[in-house]
Amino acid sequence: MLVEGPVEIEDHEGEVVRSDRFVVAICGCGRSKTYPLCDTSHRRKRRHTRKQ
Ligand code: FES
Repeated sequence: MLVEGPVEIEDHEGEVVRSDRFVVAICGCGRSKTYPLCDTSHRRKRRHTRKQ
């Protein structure tokens, strides 16, 4: 999700993340290593494991 910046995002533990960018990408998939900001991890394919 793209939002207009700058932004301050407070997570459920009260930690505040700031971004001064004009447009900020917010992670909606939960896979970002920089959550709550998107790091494009959503683009990577997940590995499928086969049941044997
Ligand atoms: S939306 Fe989660 S990493 Fe991009």
